[in-house]
Amino acid sequence: MIEESSSAEPRLSSMQMAWLQEMGIDRQLLARFRRSAEITAAARSTAGERVSHDVSPMAAPPLVDPPTLVPTRTLLKVPGHPGRDASSIAVAEAGTGAGPRAVAHDWAALQIQVANCEACSLCTNRRQAVFGAGVADSPAWMVIGEAPGEQDDRDGRPFQGRAGILLGAMLAAAGVDAEAQVFYANLVKCRPLGNRTPRLDEVNACLPYLQRQIALLKPQRILVLGKLAAQALVGKDDDFESLRGTVHVFRSETGVDIPLVATYHPAFLLSRPQHKAHAWRDLSLARSCLVSQ
Ligand code: URA
Repeated sequence: MIEESSSAEPRLSSMQMAWLQEMGIDRQLLARFRRSAEITAAARSTAGERVSHDVSPMAAPPLVDPPTLVPTRTLLKVPGHPGRDASSIAVAEAGTGAGPRAVAHDWAALQIQVANCEACSLCTNRRQAVFGAGVADSPAWMVIGEAPGEQDDRDGRPFQGRAGILLGAMLAAAGVDAEAQVFYANLVKCRPLGNRTPRLDEVNACLPYLQRQIALLKPQRILVLGKLAAQALVGKDDDFESLRGTVHVFRSETGVDIPLVATYHPAFLLSRPQHKAHAWRDLSLARSCLVSQ
């Protein structure tokens, strides 16, 4: 909670301030406090009262109630295959028709496999596959985006562009130490030209890599960014708003249940900053989750 102070403005923690700034409402909100304090002071002095600053409650988006858990099925509908399990589709049908594709079982081999992957046509235009980056041993957070952007494709690391900067600010404001607590990955490891949305055949070709990454990493929670990644990992093609606001349970290949929360993609928030407050609630929800093993 934001503490009251003896001044007109509430005393904000640096995290709360960072979020207000992130949402672009710090100035308006604080100005409102100043105005209402002035009005209160004027009214009370007119009434001959001793003046004290009356701070109306301004709560940072609260930590949410204990989350309800909804199991995921990791099922993504592919035209022509309604309701089939995405992982089996990917293994059976990914790639160039070369048949079932085995996915490496250890981290180093998986990196090499992804770097050399030709399972879908995205490989033809990439500079390099973007495997993911960050803390690779049971990170507190695994953040999963959609696909590498231009700069990511150049650098070989995810979230290097403007969306990544906003994502970093959001996580920092939620008290997440990105250096020590986060692994970043994408649904699709190669950049779609023109940053178009990856097609379902591309998602399904790549999904086994992400599933293996999750199983090997054993993150404490997963934050998925944007509709496509949310639908793919939750396994439902529900509209995005109904996927948000709930803690889903992602069952890894090794049977570990991992809490999963969906939120807006930071690229979307760049153009629609009014949704940042909702993203803050999603982050708070994710922060409140702990994996049960
Ligand atoms: N960069 C990434 O790595 N992922 C995204 O989803 C967007 C930009």
